[in-house]
Amino acid sequence: TDPEKIQLGDGAEKKGTRVRVFGRVHRERRQKEVMFVTLRDGYGFMQVILQGDLAKTYDALTLTRETSMEILGELREVPAGAHAPNNRELHADYYVIHAGGKAAGGDDAITNRVSKDTEHATLLDLRHLTLRGENASKVMIVRDAVEFAFNTVYKELRMRKVSPPALVQTQVEGGATLFKFQYYTEEAYLTQSSQLYLETCLPSMGDVYCIEKSFRAEKSLTRRHLSEYSHIEAELDFITFDDLLNHLEHVMCRVLEVTMSDPTIKQYILDLNPEFQMPERPFKRMKYSEAIDWLVEHNIPNEEGHPHKFGDDIAEAAERRMTDIINRPIFLTHFPTEIKAFYMQRDPQDPRVTESVDCLMPGVGEIVGGSMRMYDYEELMAAFAREGIDPKPYYWYTDQRKYGSSPHGGYGLGLERFLAWLCKQHTVRDCCLYPRYFGRCKP
Ligand code: 4AD
Ligand code: MG
Repeated sequence: TDPEKIQLGDGAEKKGTRVRVFGRVHRERRQKEVMFVTLRDGYGFMQVILQGDLAKTYDALTLTRETSMEILGELREVPAGAHAPNNRELHADYYVIHAGGKAAGGDDAITNRVSKDTEHATLLDLRHLTLRGENASKVMIVRDAVEFAFNTVYKELRMRKVSPPALVQTQVEGGATLFKFQYYTEEAYLTQSSQLYLETCLPSMGDVYCIEKSFRAEKSLTRRHLSEYSHIEAELDFITFDDLLNHLEHVMCRVLEVTMSDPTIKQYILDLNPEFQMPERPFKRMKYSEAIDWLVEHNIPNEEGHPHKFGDDIAEAAERRMTDIINRPIFLTHFPTEIKAFYMQRDPQDPRVTESVDCLMPGVGEIVGGSMRMYDYEELMAAFAREGIDPKPYYWYTDQRKYGSSPHGGYGLGLERFLAWLCKQHTVRDCCLYPRYFGRCKP
């Protein structure tokens, strides 16, 4: 009978027994009589030792990286002083090369075409292969864990998950970044945010969230803009602005806690980001007007090269410098009405500004945008007029304000940006499977 099949990260209790494993050659190294093969299967790595005749076959002598193998043998503790993943090695007594032989490209495909200084664009052309790299795969595995943690935490809060449409006829975040397309005989867009749909779910489902794709035609190349990104959005009913900030802080910290509670995931995060520390609570809270003063004091100019003044957009570079210097999460609040979206509720104390929040993280800058929503019908209609948006296609959104309106608010978090911060990646492009951005729609 065949020994039990185990995954490469498993089998801690199987030392001394015979097992069967499957995987691809991650690395191989030959000594005179012995061959060391590191096998990879997405769950872990295992060092395999081929000795004697097994190391001398034609297949063994010409083995290339990425070849798929099935190996049977005995699992043993590694000798003192030697290093191997999980401190064990598989002493093979039998192996088969799967799928008709050695990997076609073999070493050539992985090592020669993708070296340390290969251009990022080339690496992305070869994303289907570079995904097999240790860092790239760790980021993707952490991503899976983080998404799961958001679901877990939202369930702890009794929130309901919904799935709003991606094909829409309304904008949320401004016409400049809309992807338009022909929808049969009409014009339609790819959604920029599910927010308006989430708002319509409050009366029937209570607090809701979604994890969907959002699309933005961002015609600039930055390290934090994608054309297609994963958007984690939530909407909460009968809350104050302070409730919104406290909820957001709780969700972010609890998600980190849940994510880090898996030892493998925690290790991956620390491998990628050795200095990672849980953020201190409470997060620093800073009003937009205070940020403007801070930028002036620190001689960080606006986009035109002048000192910042009230009403300026805080652009990506200035925002990131400020966040890096302060070096902890910041809730930046109360942005002026003019630079924010039409739906944001004004601050009752100061109608020049909105009850809005961006959460900024060191290394990335904005990873969350949220606000209280305008819930008065007349005020909302005036906001549409101010922005020059025709309210007709929004009847389903404005009706909300006629049939039991309520103080409510929510936010959207960019999953790739959250990961870029958590895993200390230079760009969000390395935090999604196959990134889409200006100039790239493949592979
Ligand atoms: O600040 P944004 O545009 O806010 C909204 O879309 C709200 N309607 C969300 C809501 O309240 N439900 O986007 C929210 C977040 C940003 O903070 C950022 O993390 C991410 O989405 N994001 C992007 N991520 C990658 N590439 C882009 N082009 C992004 N645009 C926004
Ligand atoms: Mg924003």
